[in-house]
Amino acid sequence: MKRTKIKDVFKQTETDVKILVKGWVRTRRGNKSVNFIALNDGSTVNNIQIVVDLEHFSEELLKPITTGACIAVEGKLVASQGKGQTVEIQAEKIEVYGSADPETYPLQKKGHSLEFLREIAHLRPRTNTFGAIYRVRHNMAMAIHTFFHQKGFVYVHTPIITASDCEGAGQMFQVTTLNLYDLKKDENGSIDYSRDFFGKQASLTVSGQLEGELAALALGDIYTFGPTFRAENSNTPRHLSEFWMIEPEMAFYEIADNMDLAEEFIKFCIKWALENCADDLAFLQEHFDKELTERLQFVLDNDFKRLTYTEGVEILEAAVAKGHKFEFPVSWGTDLQSEHERYLVEQHFKRPVILTDYPKEIKSFYMKQNDDGKTVRAMDVLFPKIGEIIGGSQREEDFEKLKNRAQEMAVPQKDIWWYLDTRRFGTAPHSGFGLGFERLLLFVTGMANIRDVIPFPRTPNTADF
Ligand code: 4AD
Ligand code: MG
Repeated sequence: MKRTKIKDVFKQTETDVKILVKGWVRTRRGNKSVNFIALNDGSTVNNIQIVVDLEHFSEELLKPITTGACIAVEGKLVASQGKGQTVEIQAEKIEVYGSADPETYPLQKKGHSLEFLREIAHLRPRTNTFGAIYRVRHNMAMAIHTFFHQKGFVYVHTPIITASDCEGAGQMFQVTTLNLYDLKKDENGSIDYSRDFFGKQASLTVSGQLEGELAALALGDIYTFGPTFRAENSNTPRHLSEFWMIEPEMAFYEIADNMDLAEEFIKFCIKWALENCADDLAFLQEHFDKELTERLQFVLDNDFKRLTYTEGVEILEAAVAKGHKFEFPVSWGTDLQSEHERYLVEQHFKRPVILTDYPKEIKSFYMKQNDDGKTVRAMDVLFPKIGEIIGGSQREEDFEKLKNRAQEMAVPQKDIWWYLDTRRFGTAPHSGFGLGFERLLLFVTGMANIRDVIPFPRTPNTADF
């Protein structure tokens, strides 16, 4: 007999039919004559109820069927008399694949803290919460590929090992096969990387953008979607050392086109979640975030507010003047902290905000320089509860300006000569942005900590599993 996934069991309209399900036991309870097993197979957040008539099953067989055990159940699908479910399965045959010793299986009671579950990240997908999060994460990946595919974007695989620091922020993890126990240095104390694996210093990428631009200036519209790495020592609920980023890059897009695309893109993803993850979102809403679907719908229904960094800072300074207390100071030229971004979004405009035209000193070398000589054509999309969810810009397409800015910002030309070449040969106006996948997931799931929306989080001092 073929196994039916529990998700499909609930879709089945015909009852009094034979059925075979397989999954992990969430709970078993009951009395002397009948037992009820709640079974979950990961296909849905909902458990199927298995009714076990003790006349037909021995204590011996049922003994190993405790929370966490894996079983197969053949039986009859019937309309349920009980509350809380429409159908249930009357067991006729039960096979135990694997028991889970109640003394040592860590997921006994409901309501383990998220902190505790992080310590058992190898087992947490067995919980309703992480089952839901894994499924929403999958759905968001599908939404992203669908969005760009439908628009005719080409998915480009940019390299993970690289010799250039895209953001120029010095947050790279080094990749080396040099013997760290016996490092040879020259008379200046420098390491001779010509002896390293790649013949030069190499690192894990912080962004696929530079290579993405090469592709955009040939294929038109492209996107990358892959892991990126940042060795920044920020222990916050919004930073990971390894995260996934979606980076579209478009030839002939100016900054306004870039903003339009970003807004359309995020709304598409949120709509997809509401349409395809209703059960999981309802579960997450009930347990973690009562306003979740309301907030998602709100984003769909409202235009993102667009204003310049300068205007944003004026609003923040006015707030300070009126007595609002921020932890960090704010004035023109400072990088905005999450608290500032969230003030603009949550308290001032009460909707997502796109800030543009930041001071060039706090942004990367590749951004298009404005005529004022002070600002660059950057754009950050700021979201409620999250702060920055997207960072992007129009790119500097002028060879001389780009080369000079790289030099000013100490980005070595020898590392990016190939990138500069695009501006020497057939340069074009173009733009792009990066969406942090886990930041999107924080928003869509309503979870508060980024460690809970990626299966195996990597953060300073944590790389287990
Ligand atoms: O603003 P960032 O640093 O921009 C770039 O990397 C550009 N190269 C993107 C581009 O224009 N193609 O990062 C982009 C986004 C941020 O807005 C944030 O959502 C996410 O990536 N992000 C992080 N997410 C989790 N943990 C971290 N440490 C992150 N750093 C950035
Ligand atoms: Mg940024």
